[in-house]
Amino acid sequence: MTLRVLSVASEAVPLVKTGGLADVAGALPAALAPHGAVLTTFLPGYPAVLGAMKRAKTVHQWSDLLGEDARLLAGKIAGHPLLVLDVPHLFQRDGTPYGDARGKDWEDNWRRFAAFGRAAADVAEGAGQGKAGAFDLIHAHDWQAGMTLAYNRFAPASGAPLPAVMTIHNMAFQGYFDARIFRGLGLPRAAWAMDGVESYGGVGFLKAGLQAADAITTVSPSYAAEIRLPEFGMGLEGLIASRGSAVSGVLNGIDNGEWNPATDAALARPYTAKTLGGRKANKRALEAEFALDRDDGPLFIVVSRLTWQKGMDVLPEVLDHLIGLGGRLALLGSGDKAIEHELHRAALRHRGRIGIRIGYDEALSHRMQGGGDAILVPSRFEPCGLTQLYGLAYGCVPVVARTGGLADTVIDANVAALAQGAATGVQFVGVSYCAFAEAISRTIALYADKPRWKQVQVNGMACDFSWGPSGAAYAALYRSLTGTRP
Ligand code: ADP
Ligand code: GLC
Repeated sequence: MTLRVLSVASEAVPLVKTGGLADVAGALPAALAPHGAVLTTFLPGYPAVLGAMKRAKTVHQWSDLLGEDARLLAGKIAGHPLLVLDVPHLFQRDGTPYGDARGKDWEDNWRRFAAFGRAAADVAEGAGQGKAGAFDLIHAHDWQAGMTLAYNRFAPASGAPLPAVMTIHNMAFQGYFDARIFRGLGLPRAAWAMDGVESYGGVGFLKAGLQAADAITTVSPSYAAEIRLPEFGMGLEGLIASRGSAVSGVLNGIDNGEWNPATDAALARPYTAKTLGGRKANKRALEAEFALDRDDGPLFIVVSRLTWQKGMDVLPEVLDHLIGLGGRLALLGSGDKAIEHELHRAALRHRGRIGIRIGYDEALSHRMQGGGDAILVPSRFEPCGLTQLYGLAYGCVPVVARTGGLADTVIDANVAALAQGAATGVQFVGVSYCAFAEAISRTIALYADKPRWKQVQVNGMACDFSWGPSGAAYAALYRSLTGTRP
């Protein structure tokens, strides 16, 4: 039996992306299609999304969606069904999906994503779906979609609540708001409870979704275990632990169509594991692009949000060490202004050795994976992480902190793994200067051992982190919740 699933997310490639959530929400429909599940993606109508929906049909209208006029548009995203909530007053704004151009969150984010959740719950129950009627299941992603499940549970427009999955892409963002907003949510009083939307005296959108979900997933098995602990659960560890076996980890995949060095149009020279020599042309191009000295020493890259989560505050501290050992760094990212400042200072100290690009540039991120020798991912916590997976696919050896999805996807080049020919990268424990610097020393020593380095690259490129197994895992979960067979 074909399953109809409403996948509710605040971003999805190729229409709108600020991070890995967009990659995953964008990839899920294709990942689930072979398993008889048709995913319809539900997105807010930001300018970038509406711009791509020129010929979209209006399939439903609301005259009072939490006080707003709203319409539902139907279209396609990468050939898969797409529904978009158009509320100009809430979503047609310049800036990011969550805040203004300076990065300050919109004050009315609670209203924006409550309206989004209310609409998603209505759509899941069949609004605008004609004869197809209600969906079989709701799959909500992160706090922005969390309220969908609260509306589905406490205020279904008709009928009984639908089965629901809540996926946590990042526990650090919980959509926590003052208790006063509760009145504006249009929920019955019963929802104001510990097992409802109440969270530490306020309203928690992620918490609300987790409470109402039949199953909770996060994006790697290690992170699923970590969020039971206060250090990673960020206040919701008790809830997670209490849900027991309803919580599981399904590792993200990568889109091999987008991220394949053999066919990547962004690269100066495409290559495969058999033609690794082709990387040299990409490395030369990258050196030129970042105004770096030309040499055959190790070229490290970073493609990241520049935040504490990503360990980017420690990066500037290890750069003197990295450069002292003959390394160079090309960095692309944006975020914390203090970190940006420190990185600029390091680049001034080491002209020709460090190149910094502040901003967001998808094509450049591909060129960096194709020309860099190693990618640094020193995250303090990492639900899954995608850039290390892209690094593996591109022979750009990941150097990662042992946490979450980074721990699950990279095999450290320790003595045993090297002897077995199994290593795919370098791991270190704890994001401290000492541990990170030691990992950089180990990487540079490994790089100098050409046959071993090549073996590590080839091993990484042979890893299969495509969506196959994870698509099957989500499909099995959907089937178990709906009691259906493939
Ligand atoms: P997170 O979602 O926590 O930021 P992930 O590793 O899961 O981390 O996903 C980040 C995604 O965003 C990857 O696809 C990465 O290539 C991309 N990315 C991050 N920063 C930039 C940037 N400055 N320019 C281009 N792509 C970026
Ligand atoms: C979040 C996490 C990241 C994960 C991504 C996609 O942004 O920080 O680790 O890969 O979501 O699931």
